[in-house]
Amino acid sequence: MFKFSELSIFQRFNPISLIVILAIAVWSIVLGWGINQTLGAMAASPNNGLSARFEAGKELYRDTCSGCHITLPPEVLPTETWQELLEKPNSHYGTSVPNLIRLSQLLIWDYLRTFSRTLPAKDDPVPFYVQQSRYFKILHPRVEFTESVTHKSCILCHPGVNNFDFRSLTPQWDDAP
Ligand code: HEC
Ligand code: HEC
Repeated sequence: MFKFSELSIFQRFNPISLIVILAIAVWSIVLGWGINQTLGAMAASPNNGLSARFEAGKELYRDTCSGCHITLPPEVLPTETWQELLEKPNSHYGTSVPNLIRLSQLLIWDYLRTFSRTLPAKDDPVPFYVQQSRYFKILHPRVEFTESVTHKSCILCHPGVNNFDFRSLTPQWDDAP
């Protein structure tokens, strides 16, 4: 008959599991250290903390979405618009957005969602053009748009659009009351 007491500690604890446990311990320490470093870096630069988290998504957004037109800043359209556009890259204004793999889709979504607002009511129509977007209008209290606005007109007043800079204005607007 098998007697438990006959098994030595080494037989019960086979070397493979010991190695596995050791490996997990080392890996946890390394991982913990990495997270600490990242958090430390984010805390050290409070102004960059938020953007550091979304930097990859922002870069992917600019890479993936700048092939045919300028990339619009997230805040000019509601979150619902971005969601629709990201979910349906193959029916994009009569064309399709190439190279939108699942991982980039998730990272871009994380970025766009964070820097845009949802529509005030669930049954509000989802605007697919800046022209129809209330958030675009809210961001332009001084501007009375007479002609229709599209992604092509931003450059008229924002000289930095190609650097994704929508804060800089042409001197004409900078000096206007
Ligand atoms: C293959 C070319 C192509 C790519 C790549 C592309 N778009 Fe577009 N996009 C278009 C076309 C065409 C229109 C229609 C506007 C026009 O006719 O100029 C459009 C319009 C838009 C508009 C409305 C612009 C306005 O003037 O109101 C938004 C917002 C938009 N795209 C977002 C995106 C996003 C987000 C991505 C990346 C996921 C993307 N686009 C990538 C071709 C593209
Ligand atoms: C006729 C000039 C004009 C056009 C065209 C225009 N803008 Fe603006 N934009 C302004 C002015 C001026 C401001 C500053 C707010 C104000 O005074 O109304 C501004 C502010 C903004 C802001 C806020 C910037 C901040 O301080 O954070 C964003 C974002 C923006 N515009 C995006 C766009 C986009 C995207 C387009 C194109 C679809 C566009 N604008 C087209 C004049 C313009």
